[in-house]
Amino acid sequence: MDQEPLHQPVMVAESLDALSVRPGGVYLDATLGEGGHSLAILEASNPTGRVLGLDLDPRSRDAAALRLESFGQRFVSAAGNYGDMVALAHSLGLNQVDGILMDLGFSSRQIGLPGYGLSFLNDEPLDMRYDPEALLTASDVVNNYSEQELARVIYEFGEETRSRQIARRIVGSRPVRSTTQLASLVASASGPRRGGRTHPATRTFQAIRIEVNDELVNLASGLEGALQLLNPSGRLAVISYHSLEDRVVKLFMQRQSALCICPPEVPICVCGHQPTLKLVHRRVIKPSAREIQENLRSRSAKLRVAYQL
Ligand SMILES: C[S@@+](CC[C@H](N)C(=O)[O-])C[C@H]1O[C@@H](n2cnc3c(N)ncnc32)[C@H](O)[C@@H]1O
Repeated sequence: MDQEPLHQPVMVAESLDALSVRPGGVYLDATLGEGGHSLAILEASNPTGRVLGLDLDPRSRDAAALRLESFGQRFVSAAGNYGDMVALAHSLGLNQVDGILMDLGFSSRQIGLPGYGLSFLNDEPLDMRYDPEALLTASDVVNNYSEQELARVIYEFGEETRSRQIARRIVGSRPVRSTTQLASLVASASGPRRGGRTHPATRTFQAIRIEVNDELVNLASGLEGALQLLNPSGRLAVISYHSLEDRVVKLFMQRQSALCICPPEVPICVCGHQPTLKLVHRRVIKPSAREIQENLRSRSAKLRVAYQL
């Protein structure tokens, strides 16, 4: 067993509350990771609640399976993309669930363990895939995309204002082989640091990771899938870690819960929109100051919750 500590799940009590976990309930943990949230759901739904855990990453699934072994048939894990959650759940005989949790992004072990190439703190080949069998790697994006495409990715998915300079520097330095090489190229193209606490390569790494794993497209499909899988009154809880993810979740929940989706210039509603969700909280839920102190990674987390009408 490696020395990296298990991923510390974020906002566990808030997530249980959001999902309204109860004995006998059936839950989909769409981002199983190392099973921290699933463990809490299984305990809170004792003795009869069940969890199906999905994850793209076999190493995380294996860690979760080991951790949750004692729950026997109450816990099942499956390999797959939450963008395909409907087909995956149906293939396992689950047509409806009482709650779906999506805890987006990557776990602290994925960033800390060797092999993923997600961090510029470890010198590793450029990979960044959650699914080791996926075709696109960070190396493909960094070394094969045109300068224009690369700049677009860095701008759109990293919200990096110096995307063009960074893309030009990367393309001019090809081949780029490792995470640390990429990080120093980005730092040198970004110019002097602008007083922030984050490394100058943070945004570019985020952008390439989102591109490699098609994260925003999968998120949109996952949210749509959740509508098909949830029972009436079933809960959807989504934890996001950056503004791009949160925007997708927020707009989806706003639209699905709106009584009218006519453009603002239309004076009288003509859309006939039927809401499918109701927001449980109007405001986003954030971790407590104490949790942030104990788990720094939680500081950017935002939880949004809705239930199926
Ligand atoms: C923040 S971690 C989840 C941690 C988990 N809640 C826990 O308590 O251990 C996010 C997980 O989502 C997985 N993931 C990312 N994109 C995915 C996708 N499209 N489909 C399925 N799993 C995905 C990652 O591999 C990672 O294990």
